[in-house]
Amino acid sequence: MSGLFISFEGIDGVGKSTQADLLETWLSDKGKTVVRTLEPGGTDVGVEIRKILLHHKGDLAPRAEAALFAADRAHHVASKIRPALERGEIVITDRYFDSSVAYQGAGRDLSRTEVRDLSLWAVGGLLPQLTVLLDLPAEEARSRRNNSGTEPDRLEREKIEFFETVRSAYLDLAKVEPERFLVVDASVSVEEMQAQIRARVSGLI
Ligand code: TMP
Repeated sequence: MSGLFISFEGIDGVGKSTQADLLETWLSDKGKTVVRTLEPGGTDVGVEIRKILLHHKGDLAPRAEAALFAADRAHHVASKIRPALERGEIVITDRYFDSSVAYQGAGRDLSRTEVRDLSLWAVGGLLPQLTVLLDLPAEEARSRRNNSGTEPDRLEREKIEFFETVRSAYLDLAKVEPERFLVVDASVSVEEMQAQIRARVSGLI
C-alpha cells in the first residue's frame, strides 16, 4: 500500500480536530490528496452506529460498546481508508483503534489485549504509520471541553477518573510503540503543537 495513514488520539477536549484540520490544510497546500475522516462515524453506516454509541439513552453493555466501535472501524477501513491508501493518498483520521484499547480496554475494564485483537481483526491488521497522541490532564481537558459550549455526549458524561484511566492507557500504548507514536504536550499553543506534528510528518512525505 503506497499511501500514508495518520491517526490522532487523546481524551475528549485535547484539541485533536483542530490539529487534524491544520495538518490537512498544510498537506493539501503542498498538493497532496488528503482524506480527512473520523471514528466513529466516518461512513454512512458509521453515522448510524455513532448515534447509538454517543446518544443511546439506556444501558449499553461494555462488550456491545466495544463491538459497535469495532463494527464502525471495520466498515470505515474497508470502504474508505484502505481504498484511499491504495490510491496513494494520505488518510488523517480523528481516532482509530487505540481509542478502543484506551476507552473500552482500560476505561471500561475489558481486557486491553482482547479489545486490541478485536479491533485488529476488524481492520485486517491495518496500523497507522503515525499516531499523534495529544496529552493533557483530564481536568484540563474537561474544562476546555466545557468551554466549547456543546452538550456532553454519553461518553463525555463519564467521571474524571474514567478519563484519567484512559489518559494513562494512551501513555502506556505510546511507550510500547515509540516508533509509531508522537506524544505532544497539549498544554502548549495550537501553533507549537502543529509545528511538532509537521516536523514529524515531513519525514514521512
Ligand atoms: P468524538 O468524535 O467527539 O471524539 O467522540 C467519540 C467518542 O467516542 C469519544 O468520547 C471517544 C469515544 N470512543 C471510544 O470510546 N472508543 C473508540 O474506539 C472510539 C473511536 C471513540
